[in-house]
Amino acid sequence: MTPVLTLEKQETLSVQDLLAERDLTPRDIELIFQLAERVKASPGSFVQALAGKQLALIFEKPSLRTRVTFEVGMTSMGGYAIYLDHTKPRLGEREAIKDVARNLERWVHGIVARTYSHTSVEELAEHASIPVINALTDLLHPCQALADFFTLSEKFGQLKGFRLAYVGDGNNVCHSLMVTAAKLGASIHVATPPGFEPKAEIVEEAKAFARKSGSKIHLFNDPVEAVAGAQAVYTDVWASMGQEYAAHLRAQVFAPYRVTEELMEAAGPSAMFMHCLPAHRGQEATDAVIDSPRSIVFDQAENRLHVQKALLLLLLQNGTA
Ligand code: CP
Ligand code: NVA
Repeated sequence: MTPVLTLEKQETLSVQDLLAERDLTPRDIELIFQLAERVKASPGSFVQALAGKQLALIFEKPSLRTRVTFEVGMTSMGGYAIYLDHTKPRLGEREAIKDVARNLERWVHGIVARTYSHTSVEELAEHASIPVINALTDLLHPCQALADFFTLSEKFGQLKGFRLAYVGDGNNVCHSLMVTAAKLGASIHVATPPGFEPKAEIVEEAKAFARKSGSKIHLFNDPVEAVAGAQAVYTDVWASMGQEYAAHLRAQVFAPYRVTEELMEAAGPSAMFMHCLPAHRGQEATDAVIDSPRSIVFDQAENRLHVQKALLLLLLQNGTA
């Protein structure tokens, strides 16, 4: 029988939930990355680490990566995940969100939730005594940004002084990348069409963290200017889940922001290409870029698994709940 691996007492996050990057200290992020590295290098050591733990997965929106990595993450560590399809009715429509929280806390050890409104995950966390993990809201995608910077740390080592460029919509992924970059001391240049900038309060929040860590957050409208000197160029879909009705209009507005081989050349000969996926090939990035040797999109996707396994271990095994 494989012995159950237990974390050290000091391997504890300062938070009970993962709702927003703003709540994580740089030490929390360091802990997550260190454990992700161990989990990735030696998955066999963790096969019973979450034995007897159950996780509820509430999804109001579709998912490939997030759902599979949380389910595989749990089962590969001896736990179990229960998928709750909330695409219809949405969370809170059949019964109050606080009642969902109070029921689930009696049966399972943690909740992962992908919702439209960010307040829905906050409400779950407010009323559940068990950890709640944000699996993407209209505002933020913290699991994604953590996996992305973990991937960059594998490729580049030290993230202090690193420069990322984000080109496209100032959306949930952009918000999470900005705040995580600032916490880690990495700089980010964001290029969006006028009117599609990231939310002002998130920009201010990221800038405040950047002042502490010594990094820089800059907004641009010109993608060529934004990518100059970047070590990686990141893009995401032009119409996020829930904005499909505006996809046609957005396709016209965002056309000059497509990541092409020319834009990658403007970044520099060794700049890497990143995307959270799913990609709309030929829209926000060309096939040539997505399939090029510079592309690390599938490394990012793989690392969702390792980083979330680390998060689950820290929150479900060593959590403060
Ligand atoms: N990147 C990401 O969160 O993918 P899914 O929407 O497939 O989960
Ligand atoms: N911005 C995208 C990310 C998908 C992972 C969306 O919210 O649909």
